[in-house]
Amino acid sequence: MLPTHFGVTPDGALRILDQTLLPGEERYLTLTTVDEVAEAISVLRVRGAPLIGVSAAYGVTLALREGPADPARLLAACDQLEATRPTAVNLPWAMGRMRAAVHAAAQQGRDVAQAVRAEAEAIWAEDRGMCEAIGAAGAVLLPPGATVMTICNAGALATGGMGTALAPVYVAHARHQGVSVVACETRPLLQGSRLTAWELTRGGVPVTVITDGMAASRLRRGGVTCVIVGADRIALNGDTANKIGTYAVALAAHAHGVPFYVAAPRSTFDPATPDGPAIPIEERRAEEVRKIGGTQVDAPAAAVWNPAFDVTPHQLITGYITDAGLLRAGELSRLGM
Ligand code: MRU
Repeated sequence: MLPTHFGVTPDGALRILDQTLLPGEERYLTLTTVDEVAEAISVLRVRGAPLIGVSAAYGVTLALREGPADPARLLAACDQLEATRPTAVNLPWAMGRMRAAVHAAAQQGRDVAQAVRAEAEAIWAEDRGMCEAIGAAGAVLLPPGATVMTICNAGALATGGMGTALAPVYVAHARHQGVSVVACETRPLLQGSRLTAWELTRGGVPVTVITDGMAASRLRRGGVTCVIVGADRIALNGDTANKIGTYAVALAAHAHGVPFYVAAPRSTFDPATPDGPAIPIEERRAEEVRKIGGTQVDAPAAAVWNPAFDVTPHQLITGYITDAGLLRAGELSRLGM
């Protein structure tokens, strides 16, 4: 069963599962203000590119609880939410849609509050649909008994639906195809071991956790059908930003002849960014590297570098599993790129 990690209460507040506490604690939070949603995105209580976009869209609707449906206030909420994380393009994509909904309603004399709520609902519904389409498109790549390697969490927890990289796995699992997953733990914040392993075991999918440094050896050993990862931003030429460590897995997959797929909805494709070097990479606090579960794991005097994402060049990517089907780097124009 997929987690009900994201929802809206009858009175329009946002109900989220706090992903920073998993797997130790399943705590649900009710968010009622724009500030609370911005904080939740910044500290990764909600995370994953598609879910960040959906959460921010609903975050704008919370401005309606805090004051009148004044376009200037709603547009300020869009700006505040968009500034929370720089890499996932789903965030500016969703905020662009919310701004357009505000402008259109105001110009046409329609109810701005209603337009904002309807746009957030549409963004969430579309995300669910895109996840399902990705699941169907990717499942054909998985023969019976397939083993899929992944990194980070690009499952249900990272979206408003059934996930992106894990969607084909869930479809194959529902068809009783004996699919299993190798999950890289994903230092520093352990989205692989904490989140991917949590949601897959809840869903009854066999999963083996490895540390990131084991990925190359596991690929060389054989028996991994393919690697499927999610994405935070896919540039015009197909270069792809995803969780730090993805590039190393792509290099190892290439070296060992294992197909490497990126699964993403069209909201993750960014035609305005020409290539990987132009993608903004979020750098996060040193403390995330210095500590695991609150325990110091480095020499305090050492310097730390903590980029949250890396870029995999398109040459290493076998294909893109999208809501428009399986595409090669040269075919991304089919998504309007
Ligand atoms: O920092 P995070 O946990 O938000 O990073 C998430 C990822 O890198 C995911 O792989 C990506 O957003 C795709 S989620 C469907």
